[in-house]
Formats: sequence, C-alpha cells, structure tokens
Amino acid sequence: MPPVSAKQGWLAIVLVAVVSGSLIKQQESLFLRMLGLSSRPNPVSPAPVPSVLWKIYKQVASLPPEKRRMDLCHVEEFQVPGNIIRLFPDQGRAVDHPELRSPLCLDKRLYFNLSAIGAEEQVTFAQLEVRFSHNSYHGRVFELRLYRALRVSLRGVPASPESRQLLVERSFRLLHRSLTFDLLEAVREWRSPGRNLGLILEIAAADPAPLQLPSDRCLALRSFLYASLLTVSLQPGQCRAPRRRRDVAPLLVTPSSICRRRRLYIDFRDVGWQNWIIAPQGYLANYCQGECPYPLAEMLNGTNHAILQTLVHSLEPNKTPQPCCVPIRLSPISMLYYDNSDNVVLRHYEDMVVDECGCR
Ligand SMILES: *[C@@H]1O[C@H](CO)[C@@H](O)[C@H](O)[C@H]1NC(C)=O
Ligand SMILES: *[C@@H]1O[C@H](CO)[C@@H](O)[C@H](O)[C@H]1NC(C)=O
Repeated sequence: MPPVSAKQGWLAIVLVAVVSGSLIKQQESLFLRMLGLSSRPNPVSPAPVPSVLWKIYKQVASLPPEKRRMDLCHVEEFQVPGNIIRLFPDQGRAVDHPELRSPLCLDKRLYFNLSAIGAEEQVTFAQLEVRFSHNSYHGRVFELRLYRALRVSLRGVPASPESRQLLVERSFRLLHRSLTFDLLEAVREWRSPGRNLGLILEIAAADPAPLQLPSDRCLALRSFLYASLLTVSLQPGQCRAPRRRRDVAPLLVTPSSICRRRRLYIDFRDVGWQNWIIAPQGYLANYCQGECPYPLAEMLNGTNHAILQTLVHSLEPNKTPQPCCVPIRLSPISMLYYDNSDNVVLRHYEDMVVDECGCR
C-alpha cells in the first residue's frame, strides 16, 4: 500500500465523519418518524408535565417486562384502551372579564389544536381540565356553562343560539382546584376537517346578593389559571397480542464469541435529545452479537431452518453463511416527551429493549 500523506489521512477522516454524519441524520429521522414527529422537537415554552402523566409513566416503568407487554395498550388510570396519551394546552384567546353590568364573571374561548393526533388513531378518552390557582374562597357558588362553538363568531357580537351547543351546565364552589369534563364526543367530531371551532366557557356568580358590586361577586374567579385537554388514543397496529414464552434449557457456560445478548445503555444526552425527551433520560436497550456454530445448541434458540443452515454451512462454509444472531424477544418502554407543537405526550413503544437473542 502506498504511504498516505498527512493531508490524505486528514481528508479520509473528514470523509468518514461526513458519511457517518449523514447516516446518523437518516437514522435519527427514521426514529423520529416512528415516534410520529416531523423533526427533532425544540420546545420553546413547554407546559409543565401534569402529575397524572408522571403517575402513569412511573406505573408502567415499574412493571416487569412480561407485565409491561400485556398492559401496553390499556391505560389503567382511566380504564380505557390506548397507547398514546397527550396533553394539549389551551390556545384560545385570553380571559375576558366582562363588563360590570354583565351577569358573567368570566367568558373564555378555549381552543385545542388536535392536529398531532394521527388519522389512523382511535381516540378512547378525552378530558378537559379547568384549573384555578387557589381555592381560598369557599362560600360562593358559581354556575358554569360550557358550549361547543358551531360557527365562527366575532368578538363583541352577541352569540346566537345556533352558533353554540351547550355541553355542560354545572354549579360549583371553589373548593377544588380543578374541574374536569368528559369531552370524548366533541373531540371525535372535531377530528373532521373544519369542525373544531373550540369551546366557550362561561362562569357566572349564582344568586348574587343584590347590594353587592359585580366586581366583588366575581373576585374569587380572578384566579382562573388555565385549561388543558388530555386525550388517550390507540394506534391499533402497535398493539400485538403478547407472544407465548417457549421453555428452553437454562444457559450453562457460554463462550464469549457465541450468540448472546450484550449490554447497551442508550443515553439520550449522547444523541442530543435531552431537551425534548422528559423521561427516561436513557434506557438499557441491549443488542445481539455472536456466532451461531454447528451443531446449534438448544440454548441458541434456533429455528429448524437455522439448525439445517448451520449443517449446510459446516459442509460448504463458502457457499452458505451461518445463521444470524438476532433479537427473538423484545420488550416495550414508555417515553414522556414534547412533540413538535409543545404538547406533552406519553407514549408506549414496542420492541425497544432486547430481552433474548437467538440464531435465525
Ligand atoms: C395546528 O398545528 C399544526 C401543526 O403544529 C399547524 O400546522 C396548524 O396551522 C395549527 N392549526 C391552527 C388552527 O392553529
Ligand atoms: C434463549 O432463550 C432463553 C430463555 O428463553 C434465554 O435465557 C437465552 O439467553 C436465549 N439465548 C440467547 C442466545 O440469548
């Protein structure tokens, strides 16, 4: 081989770096697409992760792999089928505090951009949460009305009865920090193009004392904080029935070159994803490596085909390769992250961890 000049050597290094750089980009976009993302998210003003999502995440993460596979497509917390949980922040316009003569204390438009829900997903649960920042005022009763907007309405123009559909009417006291409403039907309708015009939330003080100023009646509601919509949906292709486990003789001694599972920890910081993946920070993914020699031992979990292939390989090594050492059993993990619209998403992904390897 001719000697390589310093310049050539440097060029080769740059070339390798460029090629592997574009390969990494390809791999990354493949993985992001699998997550349902158009590009690497870059959360600007991410909403805090609600405690219910942390709770579900921790529940699933603490299950052993066998149980996790079974629970993959069922959300225990809400008792519904599903493998994707999303939290949509409200994007409606700011709170209007109506004029003093109006009986209303609060008149707010709510809007949730549901475009992140894929067309093939089936929504099985949708819950609106309206949160108040404190619950100091216990005595006062309020009346709440939640409408679905049916027509585009202009600001300041009185709403006509046909422009809205009453969904909920409820009295409440500010005893609790938040109120929740089932919105499954509305969300299902919103998924048709042009149907999502949002909600109108009105809150009035019930039976105002005649001598009290309107501004006083509504005082407690000035703490209106924020509204969010939590949805659970099911992507049916991702829910396979758990596979039966085959009983195999226990491993005794495995020479290091033989096909087996190897330890691989993937740290999301190493791939620069720590700003959009909330949890986990990394995980034990593992991989398979090693030879599948003749005669194929039972512990290598080979198929009949692999057993015959090793036999043929031992007779004609140049014509037929050895079987490959590949994952034969994988388990899912859950990931909590921000998507391209800063929504918080909790999603379960199958086949993320190699549990067992075999010769195939
Ligand atoms: C909803 O979000 C998508 C993707 O982020 C965006 O393209 C679209 O314009 C948004 N729609 C509205 C009405 O804000
Ligand atoms: C074959 O399967 C058994 C249990 O099913 C497992 O313990 C073993 O590690 C597997 N073999 C390899 C090569 O991973």
